[in-house]
Amino acid sequence: MDGRDQTERLSADRAGIARAADLLAEGGLVAFPTETVYGLGGDATGGLSVARIFEAKGRPSFNPLIVHVPDLATAETLIDLGPPLRRLAETFWPGPLTLVAPIRAEAEIADLVTAGLPTLAVRVPLHPVAQALLTTVERPIAAPSANPSGRISPTTADHVLDGLSGRIAAVLDAGPCDVGLESTIIGAGEDRPVLLRPGGLALEEIEAVLGAELAARGADITAPGQLSSHYAPGATLRLNAAAPESGEAWLGFGSEPVLGTPCLDLSPSRDLTEAAANLFAYLRRLDDQSARIAVAPIPETGLGAAINDRLHRAAAPRS
Ligand code: TXA
Ligand code: MG
Repeated sequence: MDGRDQTERLSADRAGIARAADLLAEGGLVAFPTETVYGLGGDATGGLSVARIFEAKGRPSFNPLIVHVPDLATAETLIDLGPPLRRLAETFWPGPLTLVAPIRAEAEIADLVTAGLPTLAVRVPLHPVAQALLTTVERPIAAPSANPSGRISPTTADHVLDGLSGRIAAVLDAGPCDVGLESTIIGAGEDRPVLLRPGGLALEEIEAVLGAELAARGADITAPGQLSSHYAPGATLRLNAAAPESGEAWLGFGSEPVLGTPCLDLSPSRDLTEAAANLFAYLRRLDDQSARIAVAPIPETGLGAAINDRLHRAAAPRS
């Protein structure tokens, strides 16, 4: 617990942001909106705050966290980017991109954040409320997605409260997230940048800026968020389905509705950006209505790669 029984729902105005910054500065936990998903924020310089994040999420403590800062200049006080990652930062920050690079010796980051790794994950979010919070609090904020460990990431303040009410000090409510998928994570790699997690920034856009293909993630890389059943709903999922079978709810993609069963369409016009924004909320809604969900095929291009990554994890056998 966070020493409070009640989680405050703060409106995303000047007073709410000031209250959130005060709570963070006192070592409290505040969930806040980013353009990807809601993050569960704590002061990244305070070991106790970071420990509270793990406690609130019920997350295994070997899982390192992403640190959020307002701009590239602040990021460079924490990590050594090197030329290729700096080019990505200059192009895509602020935005749905996380960069993993060697942590600087002078960076004041609690050891628990990196879980003992010599690298640190840093992100500059685009969402104006996240930006306002980070510039007000004037310290790096560690924030995993604001869901209990192993559950679907939250794209609204209600999702946050469903999982963490009473376990965190407050949630800043700015409505639904635009992107709806976690950030794409890129590491420095040995000879060229490496993809650690597909996400809200399409790989095609990153490779166009680098003028080269990304390396694939090696089996040795510690990214426990990549454990197979990481985004699990309660229901079982059947992927690449042509149509629902009897007893299955239907998550379509530009598909005809099916009578007599709960149906949602990720994007009637087959727009992958719209589908990404709807994915987690629609999985939650169908999960509430059915024990089995059939999912239409999603193309593997653009944000489709990250959507399919999350769907495969949601469909994986539970540990
Ligand atoms: O969009 C996002 O990235 C959201 C918002 C809140 O910023 N955050 C998020 O955090 O998705 P989380 O904790 O759910 O996922 C962070 C991922 C994990 O898979 C973790 O293992 C990986 O980042 N990670 C963190 N530090 C790392 C490092 N030094 N090396 C490799 N992977 C790292
Ligand atoms: Mg997560």
